Amino acid sequence: MEERIISSEADIGELSFESSLRPQRLQQYIGQDKVKENLSVFIEAAKLRQETLDHVLLYGPPGLGKTTLASIIANEMNVHIRTTAGPAIERTGDLAAILSSLQPGDVLFIDEIHRLPRAIEEVLYPAMEDFCLDIVIGKGPSARSIRLDLPPFTLVGATTRAGALSAPLRDRFGVHCRLEYYTKEQLEEIVIRTSDVLETEIDQSAAVEIAGRSRGTPRIANRLLKRVRDFAQVRGNGFIDMEIARKSLELLQVDRLGLDHIDHKLLIAIIDRFRGGPAGLETIAATIGEEAATIEDVYEPYLLQIGFLQRTPRGRIVTDLAYRHLGREVPGK
Ligand code: ADE
Repeated sequence: MEERIISSEADIGELSFESSLRPQRLQQYIGQDKVKENLSVFIEAAKLRQETLDHVLLYGPPGLGKTTLASIIANEMNVHIRTTAGPAIERTGDLAAILSSLQPGDVLFIDEIHRLPRAIEEVLYPAMEDFCLDIVIGKGPSARSIRLDLPPFTLVGATTRAGALSAPLRDRFGVHCRLEYYTKEQLEEIVIRTSDVLETEIDQSAAVEIAGRSRGTPRIANRLLKRVRDFAQVRGNGFIDMEIARKSLELLQVDRLGLDHIDHKLLIAIIDRFRGGPAGLETIAATIGEEAATIEDVYEPYLLQIGFLQRTPRGRIVTDLAYRHLGREVPGK
């Protein structure tokens, strides 16, 4: 799959970059107002009662700040955070080792929790419910089970696909938070805040320009900001104004709505080859030389969200809105 500047997945370098930019407190976190308000109440209540915070499930599209929220939760509770990911826990022993090394009240953050192997999930149930581990020792007829007590902890689970979580696991989280795409105004605020952290000067109009092309996603906003800053430093005097922002975003091939050449290719293929659709997913995939699953999971969601594509039982349809954006004549109008 091609690399895309507007991908909402983080690359390896980006994760450490993100953690250095990350707000540390709920107060500094921009957007997700409902989630923030609810969490602040649950955190304060747990602290008042000197209890461990209930387990928290964070779900929503990638790049919206689930990892950031997990570390804020730990900061606000004044506890340590231990971070891992579903696919990284392969054996029950891995999970047992992590859980038994926690200090009372700590946060265990499991990213991509929907990818936890089933056998591990089952070890997690008693750990979440009763803070204990049932470990089987030995094999065959002499096997026996012993119960180990664990320190109380808060599991923060993150997933892009809440539907992929098994019901028993989902039900063991006392707090469910759905993260939403950010508004342009919130992204503008984030761009200005990040510029400040990066000690880069930026015009408000340039921040608006970057925000508008960030697909509702702070990770994309911060990535575009970094690239625009490169242009400003090399081709300009380091200051990010509207002109340098526009020019660099044009060179990066990110259009006014944050669409890149792959989005264009997908829409144009349906318009030119299938008269705007409906066209079946597999047919589109074959036409543009991509896997159907990639189109469905990576390319389509944003186009559906901004109303450029529609899903019907007979296939995908390009909407009038998309025709206009691409400068194409709307058929039958
Ligand atoms: N950087 C990335 N996401 C952020 C957010 N939601 N608030 C503040 N800074 C951020």
